[in-house]
Amino acid sequence: MLGNFTYCNPTKLYFGKGALRNLSNELPKYGKNVVLIYGGGSIKKNGIYDEICKILRENGKTVTEIAGVMPNPTLEKLYEGIAIVRKANADLLLAAGGGSVCDYTKALSVSAYCEEDPWEKYYIRFEEPTCTILPVGCVLTMAGTGSEMNAGAVITNRKTKQKIGHVFEDEAVMPKFSILDPMYTLTLPHYQMVAGIYDIFNHICEQYFSGDDDNTSDYLAEGLMHSLLHASRVANNDMQNYEARSNIMWTATWALNTLISRGKSTDWMVHMIGQAVGAYTNATHGMTLAAVSLAYYRSVLPYGLPKFKRFACNVWGVDPSGKTDEQIAEEGLAAMAAWMRELGLAMNITELGVTPDMLEGIAQSTILLPSGYHVPDRDGVIEILKNSL
Ligand code: NZQ
Ligand code: ZN
Repeated sequence: MLGNFTYCNPTKLYFGKGALRNLSNELPKYGKNVVLIYGGGSIKKNGIYDEICKILRENGKTVTEIAGVMPNPTLEKLYEGIAIVRKANADLLLAAGGGSVCDYTKALSVSAYCEEDPWEKYYIRFEEPTCTILPVGCVLTMAGTGSEMNAGAVITNRKTKQKIGHVFEDEAVMPKFSILDPMYTLTLPHYQMVAGIYDIFNHICEQYFSGDDDNTSDYLAEGLMHSLLHASRVANNDMQNYEARSNIMWTATWALNTLISRGKSTDWMVHMIGQAVGAYTNATHGMTLAAVSLAYYRSVLPYGLPKFKRFACNVWGVDPSGKTDEQIAEEGLAAMAAWMRELGLAMNITELGVTPDMLEGIAQSTILLPSGYHVPDRDGVIEILKNSL
């Protein structure tokens, strides 16, 4: 452990079958006006919408809705929501959905009373909120992003082809409470389930592949990866397996609720490249990460060899005897690739709709972060993208 840090996570979690009943504990803490925010309609098909509305009615709330939050929520949708939230004089923003709905709701909470353009303030200048932050509650329906217990909010600007995440420093942006019922994730299509699983895995990798200090976080990361790999295989063969799906949901939260990044450097370049791919293709977030990961990790492997060797042995069970460090590390990545194929993840960006003429633009749209084992320049990003085609 090298770095000093502050750790504060104020989100209260309610986890397990029937956890939604706890919404009644939370609602009395807020005023009458609730804005219920959801996506393209999955919560209406699987009955979650009706359950939430019933509890809101029982608690005497006046409800305004924002429907149709799309995967990879857009800036236009954020502007639309600001007007609705202000008109409703909202006391609580209640998100019901996956990471997109949760992120969007957090972005709204810091934008509704922002006196400047929130895109410029939060996503270009990366400033912290100076206005009232509306309280957010979350009913999670998809495991992956960790948005239910962090202060991140990713917004896509379709006009400028930028998909940018701001992880706010102010913990007031984190949801006040989140309700996690793994049963809700059982209606996810296989594609979304495995995309979520890879998102979780990559969140852990982004915080693991950096630094050369002996750090508690890396041991926690390995434990989370073990649990996730096991549960992912069970769920991939039996999507209705509650035990596996509940472990996936819980791992997702711990993979990105700020715990395992404390006291160490982190990378996040797979996310930066994946988000730029997302800005150009609107592809599913976890799939964009899967499609660029192997090319990225092969490009940084020579600079972080001891960690890649450790990853191979401790996470994938590679037997190191009689092999060079490079061979061991490569075997780890090969085992990871085999697991990715087993799940049916996107293995290249071509299948996500990227064509060679887009590479320059995607590289320009990629934010370069400084703390991984090797920071690529623009040409390096283009090379990684070419190797991901
Ligand atoms: O819109 P509906 O109809 O609800 O359908 C959604 C959507 O089409 C569907 N879905 C969700 N729960 C379901 C369900 N379908 C059936 N049954 C259910 N129970 O799944 C689709 C994808 O949902 P979405 O919310 O987009 O997925 P995810 O949770 O992966 O969120 C992705 C967004 O989160 C951002 C991503 O960039 C992307 O914009 N991220 C947020 C992070 C954070 N806050 O820290 C970190 C992540 O790295 C990520 O960048
Ligand atoms: Zn992610």
